[in-house]
Amino acid sequence: MEILEKYPPMIEKRLDELMECIPVCAPEKICKEAMKYSLSAGGKRIRPALVCAFAEMAGGDLSAALDPACALEMIHTFSLIHDDMPCMDDDDFRRGRPSCHKKYGEAVALLAGDALECYAFEVIACAENLSHECRSSLIMTLAKAVGVSGMIGGQTIDIGNEGKGFSEDVLFRMYSMKTCALIRCACAMGCICGGRSDLVKKAEEYGEALGLAFQIVDDILDITSDTETLGKPTGSDREQDKATYPAVFGLEAAREKAAALTARAVQIAGEFPDNEPLISLTEKLLYRVK
Ligand code: IPE
Ligand code: IPE
Ligand code: MG
Ligand code: MG
Ligand code: MG
Repeated sequence: MEILEKYPPMIEKRLDELMECIPVCAPEKICKEAMKYSLSAGGKRIRPALVCAFAEMAGGDLSAALDPACALEMIHTFSLIHDDMPCMDDDDFRRGRPSCHKKYGEAVALLAGDALECYAFEVIACAENLSHECRSSLIMTLAKAVGVSGMIGGQTIDIGNEGKGFSEDVLFRMYSMKTCALIRCACAMGCICGGRSDLVKKAEEYGEALGLAFQIVDDILDITSDTETLGKPTGSDREQDKATYPAVFGLEAAREKAAALTARAVQIAGEFPDNEPLISLTEKLLYRVK
């Protein structure tokens, strides 16, 4: 069964349950509402699906991987809430609806992002069916992927990259941090959940190649797609004069590079057991329309 058909329904259900577990009183309820608003808005759930897929390929129990998978989706959603804010990309739509700050205001959106980040770590710390060692390894892996040497560092480079003629190396370093870090982390977390830390390095190599292709395709879609299909504004990168792969090297070169990186990811995926669903997902993401 396809990865994006098999896992997202169980991820949605578990995300709902996990959100229901948060006790809040009336005065702070608005923050929880904003967290739920962005989390339940219908993302593709690629990162948590990768956690589940790698956990199963590593021979692990899917039910044990589900909470860490949801935690990663909370982190990703927090990154999107902040990414859209006026001080960052200043985008008014996300996942087909008004961005969190458009609906709840900037202060609540900021806090909802912060709260999703904290809750993600709480969810892993409390995850059932995983050893203490496994939970601490997951927390360490996730913390590194989110922090200043991971996604947040990449976002820092991104906000300073307007209008600069970036080389491929510099662009790829930014992509590797802002986008690949969470995707590599998804693959690594799956292996850790499955008790196969020996597979982490190979899984991260796959995540890096997939993540680079994924961000180049995202940058291409920002130029070639429309807001309705994408569920977020197009032309945003150009408006902000962002240095992206297609902006610097042209659409044709960007398409070729994304295809080459996808081929590399497929090659690495082939080294994992029962790899057909992973290979199929990898190829589909190259041709995705949103
Ligand atoms: C968007 O990620 C941000 C990037 C790293 C390009 P996704 O394209 O996975 O967004 P959702 O989760 O489906 O909304
Ligand atoms: C990735 O880059 C953003 C994050 C790491 C959160 P973009 O800024 O291009 O993502 P979109 O296009 O807004 O989803
Ligand atoms: Mg951005
Ligand atoms: Mg953005
Ligand atoms: Mg983009």
